[in-house]
Amino acid sequence: MLDKIQQIKAEMEQLHAQTLEDAEALRIKYLSKKGLIPQLMEDFRSVPAEMKKEVGIKINELKTLAQERINALKESLATQETAGANIDLTRTPYPISLGSRHPITIVKNEIVDIFSRLGFTLAEGPEVEDDWHVYSSMNFADDHPARDMQDTFFVESHPDIILRSHTSSVQARVMERQQPPIRVICPGRVYRNEAISARAHCFFHQVEGLYVDKNVSFTDLKQVLLLFAQEMFGPDTKIRLRPSYFPFTEPSAEMDISCHLCGGKGCSFCKHTGWVEILGCGMVDPAVLEANGIDSKVYSGYAFGMGIERITNLKYQVKDLRMFSENDLRFLDEFKAAN
Ligand code: DAH
Repeated sequence: MLDKIQQIKAEMEQLHAQTLEDAEALRIKYLSKKGLIPQLMEDFRSVPAEMKKEVGIKINELKTLAQERINALKESLATQETAGANIDLTRTPYPISLGSRHPITIVKNEIVDIFSRLGFTLAEGPEVEDDWHVYSSMNFADDHPARDMQDTFFVESHPDIILRSHTSSVQARVMERQQPPIRVICPGRVYRNEAISARAHCFFHQVEGLYVDKNVSFTDLKQVLLLFAQEMFGPDTKIRLRPSYFPFTEPSAEMDISCHLCGGKGCSFCKHTGWVEILGCGMVDPAVLEANGIDSKVYSGYAFGMGIERITNLKYQVKDLRMFSENDLRFLDEFKAAN
């Protein structure tokens, strides 16, 4: 009797079935009224009294094992069969989740695209720069406050090496290797030693523009910027230039555009002025041309620089600068349609 139990138990370990019908046949063979295990229970009557306890326990264990094994077989066959029946061979193979471009990249591409239609070519320079390209060649006096530790990240062991604090450094990089006519647009990342908040960050992005040729005038600058503003913010956009100061331009100006949210009527976005500031610009200071090997008696030029985050905020009303570098997918997904 014990041998028989052992033998059926061994069979249970090997149990397998191809189809649900096979599994049902196994159930009938082992567990139905006339099956092998109930048969054992019949035979149990003739087991000597002193062995009844041991044999009884073993038979019960065997029955439970058989039920478990056969049910498990049936379950796995059932899920396999329904899965097979539901396969849709016309479906795309994977649920591919497409990414989206970063809003800064979207706006940068748009800016570069507008200026490339006006004949500007792309120029780039290093983010780790030297003092000459960032400051000295751009006509910053030795004691100019922008060089202060407050603004600039210095490399500790090399005080002359810094993280560029504006893309104006690329102007110098272009002029030192190319004579006019020069017409370049220079996008890139810049760094400033600022505490991170909703309104300031220690890195952000700018686009610099530079045009140097014979007889370049302030009128040319104004016309190009008007065209840019209207391409970027719509054909009804107006611009206004306010006098300002930058070491590398003379005269210098800051440009506002009519608030595109209220159309210039005044709203909380433009602080009820009807205007929002978008960039700095001016005629390249002759001292800058000379410092970079260009004859200022023959050539003149204009330059401008804008923050990409600023333009993106105006276009999409992003309230917090930190959103741009946190890479929260809920934020990035908002720009899928703009790609
Ligand atoms: N470099 C300036 C800044 O970071 C922006 C700027 C202003 C660039 C006037 C220019 C310019 O080329 O002409 O604030």
